[in-house]
Amino acid sequence: MRKTIIAGNWKMHKNQAESKALITAVLEGVSQMKGETLPDIVLCPVFLSLPLAAETLKSLKEKHGEVLNTCYVGAQNMDYHESGAFTGEIAPGMLTDIGLTHVIIGHSERRQYFAETNASVNLKTRAALANKLVPIVCVGETLDEREAGLTDQVIRRQVASALEELDKDQVAKIVVAYEPVWAIGTGKNCESTEANRVCKMIRETINELYATNVADAIPVLYGGSVKPSTIVEQMEQSDIDGALVGGASLKAEDFLPIIKGGAGRSKLMGTRA
Ligand code: PGA
Repeated sequence: MRKTIIAGNWKMHKNQAESKALITAVLEGVSQMKGETLPDIVLCPVFLSLPLAAETLKSLKEKHGEVLNTCYVGAQNMDYHESGAFTGEIAPGMLTDIGLTHVIIGHSERRQYFAETNASVNLKTRAALANKLVPIVCVGETLDEREAGLTDQVIRRQVASALEELDKDQVAKIVVAYEPVWAIGTGKNCESTEANRVCKMIRETINELYATNVADAIPVLYGGSVKPSTIVEQMEQSDIDGALVGGASLKAEDFLPIIKGGAGRSKLMGTRA
């Protein structure tokens, strides 16, 4: 049975006070969802707000108990070295040091603006796993690639590169997010059936690479203009196990209905008691 995951990528938004207000509003909202089959919920603020977010999560878990058990804080990026002369970077162990559990790897904005490559995505994925962080590995084609009919080829290559040198047990611990670049922040949603087709193809690619059914248990998320109005249909698809949400994760009133959508799928999949 696969987990459902709803992750919020806050990108370069929210200062400390705003981050605290948003994480509190989201978690207080989740605490009202007692009785729902909640998905895993991962909130990914900017680096500077991570310690505060981790502390806020901890204290709200103490306040509300079990209902927040599936809530986590993650980072949007990290370096793959353990430490060293890498000015401006953050090491994986520094994330776990403050209680983080997840990290987004290879987001298309990192690939586009910060020269990340399939090779660096692989190094970061391996470093995350070595540090017991769950890597949310992002893949996705550009509009040019889609229009040239290259979607499947590009995604297969990104997936295969990201997983290089991972063994079967390691790969079982990753999460993949399919985020078509042309659908990110544009309001242009990828049709649910097409997103489902690609998510399924990602799963099949991993199974082929490992000659096992290892990917049947790996959550594959969709990201790209996910909104409260799109989530229900997305969560009804066979192979979309959750969402990586940008813009709509910045307001609790948008993100909470998306979490509810995830709860609907979680119940359907029977992943929680
Ligand atoms: P969006 O961003 O929901 O604003 O399209 C998604 C993402 O970049 O992860």
